[in-house]
Amino acid sequence: MNILIVDNDSKALNTYEETLSNNKYDLLLAQSTGAALELVQSESVDIVITAWDMPEMDGLEFCRRIYQGGFNTNIYTILISDQETNIDLIKNLGTVVNDYIRMPVSPIDLTIRVAIGARVARLENQINRDRDTLKKEYYPTVRMLSHLVHVYNEDLGDHSRRVAEASVKMAQRHPGISTDVYPTIRAAGLLHDIGMVCVPASILAKKRTEMTARERVLYLSHPIQGESILNENEKLRPVAALVRMHHEQYNGKGFPDTLAGNQIPLPAKIIAAVSLYDNLVHRGKCSLEDIPTQLQRYMGYQLDPNLYQYLVQLNLDNMVADARKKYQEVRFEDLTEGMVLARNVRLKGGAMAMPFQTKITAAMIDKLSQYNERGYIPNKFYVYKW
Ligand SMILES: [Fe+2]
Repeated sequence: MNILIVDNDSKALNTYEETLSNNKYDLLLAQSTGAALELVQSESVDIVITAWDMPEMDGLEFCRRIYQGGFNTNIYTILISDQETNIDLIKNLGTVVNDYIRMPVSPIDLTIRVAIGARVARLENQINRDRDTLKKEYYPTVRMLSHLVHVYNEDLGDHSRRVAEASVKMAQRHPGISTDVYPTIRAAGLLHDIGMVCVPASILAKKRTEMTARERVLYLSHPIQGESILNENEKLRPVAALVRMHHEQYNGKGFPDTLAGNQIPLPAKIIAAVSLYDNLVHRGKCSLEDIPTQLQRYMGYQLDPNLYQYLVQLNLDNMVADARKKYQEVRFEDLTEGMVLARNVRLKGGAMAMPFQTKITAAMIDKLSQYNERGYIPNKFYVYKW
């Protein structure tokens, strides 16, 4: 722990140095704020103790330079002065200045305040290291796994991305979710169906009522499979727990653990609710206008009634966004003569199959039908609204 002590009074400087001399701290000394600024730039400083009343640049201004200068925003600053109160100090406490010691400074007071500062600085450094780890390891891993889901099944990948985005949006509106949970919710939304990669693609295409008993067992295992995949990475364990619960239902008739009501954590309920909504819109072909009525059928069963209003709000957002769009997304089955392509249709290898602004004819539908049957093109087309 590096501590920089700044005072133009050499007697005071020596006293502070003597008080803090022990094995725990490496002490740097400066008799002017100019020299201190150079040390902050060149050395790794964790705590600054500075006298307020200094010639040229006073201690408060020095702390402000540190705070705004981008040297290291996590330097813990302690100001020493004989001033009793000062509006400028009060305004800057907690940001520019972290602590204030009134003169005369007793050795025990200085020792205790520095020990507190050292603990805060250590915790802040730990938080920064964790944040770096998140950036370097956690997010790339989540993106990689999300890409895998998308490659395994494009529709599942698109569904998962929409669920992630909308779940975070709902979480941001919900007073019961704190900001530090958002990354976990986003990751769980993206990866809630990652266990599906353990289920053969032929089963994925079936409704649950069409599955054989064996296929059904495989399908029902996907939340547990997803959990066990994610549990391989310790940092993803909170995500894994939510993934296991994404098919639990409010009425206790979900799977795999038949949890009910408040046994299901709120983030898991949000992901389940948004996934239900997305399935109604994109798989059930329910119009956005009908969604509020449709959702009422699920209240108290699959859906926690307390989340109904949040889904309706989400639906309103989508209605507004939809009204602003000049194009709509359709599947092959919905293509009809007269529609005009709003985006190029490309083969999966990237070659152009049909340029945008092409007006769809019956012959083109035949051609696209052949491509579609052979899996040459994604089953997703963008056409202008008409
Ligand atoms: Fe699922």
